[in-house]
Amino acid sequence: MAGPGELPPQEQVMQGLFGFMVTKCLSAVAKHKIPDTLKDGPLYYTELAEKTGTNQRALHRIMRMLSGIGMFTEPEPGKYALTPASELLRSDVPGSLHGMAVMVSSESHWQPWGRMEEVLKTGNSGAMHAFETDMFTWVQRDENKEQWQIFNEAMTSFSSGISHAIADALDFSGYKHIVDIGGGHGYFLKTILEKAPNAKGTLFDMPQVVEGANDLGERIQREGGDFFKAVPVGGDCYTLKHIIHDWGDEQSLTLLKNIASVMQPDAKILIAEIVMPETPEPHPAKFMDVNMLAMTEGGCERTEQEYADLFAKAGLKLNGIHPTPSPVSVVEAVKA
Ligand SMILES: C[S@@+](CC[C@H](N)C(=O)[O-])C[C@H]1O[C@@H](n2cnc3c(N)ncnc32)[C@H](O)[C@@H]1O
Repeated sequence: MAGPGELPPQEQVMQGLFGFMVTKCLSAVAKHKIPDTLKDGPLYYTELAEKTGTNQRALHRIMRMLSGIGMFTEPEPGKYALTPASELLRSDVPGSLHGMAVMVSSESHWQPWGRMEEVLKTGNSGAMHAFETDMFTWVQRDENKEQWQIFNEAMTSFSSGISHAIADALDFSGYKHIVDIGGGHGYFLKTILEKAPNAKGTLFDMPQVVEGANDLGERIQREGGDFFKAVPVGGDCYTLKHIIHDWGDEQSLTLLKNIASVMQPDAKILIAEIVMPETPEPHPAKFMDVNMLAMTEGGCERTEQEYADLFAKAGLKLNGIHPTPSPVSVVEAVKA
């Protein structure tokens, strides 16, 4: 998306209004594995359509549009190739965004986002308007199994690049017991334990989520539960990656107080989130924040000061913010 002043005003507005077309087309080509099919080199759309079971003419028109914005290239008319951007839409590359591309236009996201006008009017989430419940509850219903799978795959693939960036940016080597709160299927915990050779790990999430975790290895135990009720006892490091931004201050406080009440006295709480800048420049935090507005009840991206205020109410204090090579930073809290 162009920043202010980079395009003539009409083009700037039109580019903004056409954003949904880009989303939908990127999701469609990811879902039909077009980028995976181009990994060995350029293909004419006819062959590409045959290999992917898609409609020739529709594929040509979508690829022409996406090539125009640099997502693919068209080295000869009708022949398409990957760019560094669409390489990331392959499902089999490190840091793949394939799962994200599929998720953003799946029902769990598209329906809540479709209710943005009501979100603006009421301040309630789009999920509440679309599903009459929160997204986590809706996506785990039996009838939404496919949506749940899409959601988990997206979280895992989105998590992979960021997990390595965090593991490389911080020193985990001194910890003995790392508890990952809301750790999903355990990718992040496994990644940081590689940098913490003397530590055991506890993967904590809802029972049905931790049950689905595979290949955790000998050092990780799993524990199912509700983090608003209680969290595993006695860790010297509690990690929360993309957890706090899902919740409003009241629920975040309950969770932080639960951790503060059971952690070792000198333990650290490490919160991995995109920190909201206080300045007006374009920033991924501002997009993620509106996504939280659409998708969650009270979730948001917070500024450094907002984290400090939240910690103070939970008997904690801000002990530093560690940037990583990804947009995500690690916000560190200790007992006050
Ligand atoms: C946005 S995902 C983040 C997953 C993982 N930390 C990551 O970064 O990929 C939020 C996680 O919180 C878990 N969760 C939501 N509510 C929870 C609760 N009340 N108790 C425990 N886990 C919960 C979800 O199951 C999900 O795995």
